[in-house]
Amino acid sequence: MGSVLKRSEFSWEEYFSDKKKGGHRFSTEEFLTKEANEKLFHLNGGKTLLDFGCGAGELLIHYVPKYEKVIGSDFSRSMLFEAEKKILEQKYGNVDLILADDKTIWDELNLKFDRITATEVVQYFTPEQLEDFIHNASEYLNKDGKIVLFDIIDPKLYYLWKIGWFSHNFMSWNIFVRAYVGCVRRILAFLRNQPGDIIGNSHSPHLVGKIAHRNGFQMECVKSMYYEYRYHAILSKIA
Ligand SMILES: C[S@@+](CC[C@H](N)C(=O)[O-])C[C@H]1O[C@@H](n2cnc3c(N)ncnc32)[C@H](O)[C@@H]1O
Repeated sequence: MGSVLKRSEFSWEEYFSDKKKGGHRFSTEEFLTKEANEKLFHLNGGKTLLDFGCGAGELLIHYVPKYEKVIGSDFSRSMLFEAEKKILEQKYGNVDLILADDKTIWDELNLKFDRITATEVVQYFTPEQLEDFIHNASEYLNKDGKIVLFDIIDPKLYYLWKIGWFSHNFMSWNIFVRAYVGCVRRILAFLRNQPGDIIGNSHSPHLVGKIAHRNGFQMECVKSMYYEYRYHAILSKIA
């Protein structure tokens, strides 16, 4: 009897299970403060905040003093442990951390929010997961609340960035070298049972806008300030 070789499923949860940093471009306090300030500008107020996929709290820790109540959640124990250390260091009393994923988080919440945000998280969602996330999040939003999805990977810009389009010393022959390296990486990823690109999935602004609209939101799309190939989706309820 013939057998089919079935590769086991790659799991992002497992991938993040021992990670301790969010993978920002620079991990200096100066850069993270600038990045958090950009996010706070777009969050544009509110009193209660859910930071879904808060990771090691590198941005969360900057949000806490600006809100009355903050919930940070993540499915990685090691990430949440790092976030907790930062919160204890600052002696903040208005923040809770919850170990949960995009399906289980909703049953853990006992309040609604003015803002629900996620930074560099929806790249680990499939489009179906993203739709469910927006649908569920809308049930936990206060009136005039917003869902703000930061730093979504734009597929077109990402490939331009990968071939060096945004670099100062961009040279056309580089395209071939980079494309070749990209192919080799994809083959290695396949052999290691990892996704084609370890950065996760890209979602076009068009797709996110359509999902948002289907769930009763209008989307404002804003260019990310610190990542050339990412954008932010600011969703507010259609009146
Ligand atoms: C790139 S890190 C960003 C962390 C944080 N938002 C920041 O900007 O510093 C992505 C985080 O999302 C979390 N994550 C990814 N998919 C998730 C899911 N389905 N449920 C819960 N957390 C998730 C990971 O564990 C990780 O901590």
